[in-house]
Amino acid sequence: MDTDLLEETANFLVGPGRGILAADESNGTMSKRLEAVGVSSSPESRNAYRANLFAMPTMSEAISGVILYDETIRQQAVDGTQIPDYLTARNVLPGIKVDTGAKQLAGHENETVTEGLDGLRERCAEYFSMGARFAKWRAVIRIGGDLPSDACISTNAHALARYAAICQEQGLVPIIEPEVLMEGEHSAQRCFEVTALVLDATWDACKTQGVYLPGALLKPNMVLPGKGHSQRSDVETCAQMTIDLLHNHVPKDIPGIVFLSGGQSEVEATAHLNAMNNMGPHPFELSYSYGRALQASTLKTWAENQDDLSKPHSVFAHRCKMAHLARFGNWSEDLEA
Ligand code: G3H
Repeated sequence: MDTDLLEETANFLVGPGRGILAADESNGTMSKRLEAVGVSSSPESRNAYRANLFAMPTMSEAISGVILYDETIRQQAVDGTQIPDYLTARNVLPGIKVDTGAKQLAGHENETVTEGLDGLRERCAEYFSMGARFAKWRAVIRIGGDLPSDACISTNAHALARYAAICQEQGLVPIIEPEVLMEGEHSAQRCFEVTALVLDATWDACKTQGVYLPGALLKPNMVLPGKGHSQRSDVETCAQMTIDLLHNHVPKDIPGIVFLSGGQSEVEATAHLNAMNNMGPHPFELSYSYGRALQASTLKTWAENQDDLSKPHSVFAHRCKMAHLARFGNWSEDLEA
């Protein structure tokens, strides 16, 4: 294992004012997103949207890495070069989603285990040779009734740790993503308790598998009530609960936390990150690996203006700027106007 390379990559990804763009939607998810804005989904339309997204002139001021999907890493950028080469030339590291999706967990209704370990070593080696320097694997944990089960937590923790160890062996920094979903009627306190259990199990499994934590990043959910809960958390409450969780359930040698947005609006996800960074200093960098919270308004604008990229580029530049400011705790709501 090349620990120097892994540490260098992990620290680069959470460097000052920058974070990760998650553009690794599977073809199924991306088709839903495109069809929702009236664009039919095909390899060509997915490539057109993403290649133009990556061509936004100031992207690298706020984006240190982009997570790609297997289809995208093999496609071309706007200048005809391969997308990983194009990103690298712009000082943005290419990353790759390597899990093959959340599948029904046998014997556990409504719960999933994320798969993709078979052949992972060979796939990681190929992605590294294509220029990828980090990877993502998303485990999905649902709260509700008696859920999550111990089986769901332990199988997903085990898979995350096995994935992380294989990535590190192949030179890729693993982003460890155990997402506790916002779907459900649970309280923020319940979200805190479940996320704490999931994180503890994940670090136990990482220890068993020999994962090198200074060369890994954590991609967690924030602590929020379920979408169906009667009360919403205000920004300060979400930020304080999430900080309490991370300070007590994340090893200090993890260099950075890159949050998922998980269905929060663009502004909510930015406000929460900003508030947390204002509560520092923290033992790790607090950054982003947002999908929808960086792309939602850009995708809509692109769909309406495919012949005039200045409009989607300016919307994406704005979201990047807001996220960049939130890394320093310098964002404020009036900047959104
Ligand atoms: O795995 C989840 C995605 O990479 C992040 O997407 O910010 O829309 O939740 P999200």
